[in-house]
Amino acid sequence: MDFIPVNKPLLNGNERKYLCECIDTGWISSEGPFVKEFEQKMSASVCRKYGVSVSNGTAALEVAVQALGIREGDEVIMPAFTIISCSMAVAKVGAVPVLVDSNIHTWNMNVEEIEAKITPKTRAIMVVHLYGLPVEMDNVLSLAKKYNLKVIEDAAEMHGQTYNGKPCGSFGDISTFSFYPNKHITTGEGGMVVTDDEELAERCRLLRNLCFKKDVRYVHDEISGNYRFTNLQAAVGLAQLERLDEFVKRKREMGRYYTEALEDVKGIQLPIPKTEYADNIYWVYGIVLNKDIKPDNKTIQKLLAAEGIGARTFFWCIHEQPVYQGQGMFQNERYPNAEYLARKGFYIPSGLALTQEQMECVVCKVKKVMTQLG
Ligand SMILES: Cc1ncc(COP(=O)(O)O)c(C=O)c1O
Repeated sequence: MDFIPVNKPLLNGNERKYLCECIDTGWISSEGPFVKEFEQKMSASVCRKYGVSVSNGTAALEVAVQALGIREGDEVIMPAFTIISCSMAVAKVGAVPVLVDSNIHTWNMNVEEIEAKITPKTRAIMVVHLYGLPVEMDNVLSLAKKYNLKVIEDAAEMHGQTYNGKPCGSFGDISTFSFYPNKHITTGEGGMVVTDDEELAERCRLLRNLCFKKDVRYVHDEISGNYRFTNLQAAVGLAQLERLDEFVKRKREMGRYYTEALEDVKGIQLPIPKTEYADNIYWVYGIVLNKDIKPDNKTIQKLLAAEGIGARTFFWCIHEQPVYQGQGMFQNERYPNAEYLARKGFYIPSGLALTQEQMECVVCKVKKVMTQLG
């Protein structure tokens, strides 16, 4: 069998039709009509009033942080185990990421640790739902209320997921999405900020587009960037959004298949199928090596690659990022669960285009590699 990539998206709905429409009409820039339609449909799908599309999920976080007015000296609480986009968005405005450890079972931030990290400088909590299960939002929202903090919900990996029946992307002051090809719906590159606050949405629109002054074009009071999203991306996004329910169902089927097939393999922890507040949507199918397995996730990745299987290690912790260590940040801070996940976690092919035959092959190779490791 050919090499099985870690991700391949499914683009066999109306993507081609809508893209052809862009080409035939000449609407390819961010001014095209699909952009507004996608913003409206995507925000409505998570029960938000406003959607502001941007160039990717990282830009969405940057725009969200800036729109909330977070600035130098402020502190933002977030997980130690997440993608660097989260801390970058905060550090870029001169604010300080304050970290909490992970829950070793759900792989999400341990919400029990948040309150102890709140100081007079804390302005916001950045919640990041990881790998398919949402963070326990009730705790976060009550802390935010108690201490008057903003909540930024990074729902980049959570298309179609709910927390106690309410859509992820609908919590807190502002939520963000990514549409990178490994997400449940993709636009190639792309992202969106969603909110119920009209002023905040307007601020996001300004920040997305160079902070043009309202009535005077090419005159600017503030520095921002160009984070615009094109009609071509929106065309793909609309076609993908039409199939979100089907995609979530398929991802759950894939998750169930992998779990049943790998359940008896010694030395690994599989994702939790559900918590009391959500069923896993398996953003990707993650696996964590047990303590008694000596090699780390990089070794597994190499061994699987040699067997023709694409795999990826989990995120690297924020406090261990060389860029921050070089700046003297997070000195002597330890987050044991986050560090464990970063060293022992990896994920196997999980893209929506994966066939049953390919999944069977992945299972067979994972079993072979784990047997080799004893
Ligand atoms: C939780 C989370 N936040 C943010 C991002 C950044 O999104 P993008 O790659 O579109 O910039 C990702 C990407 O995987 C993510 O998983």
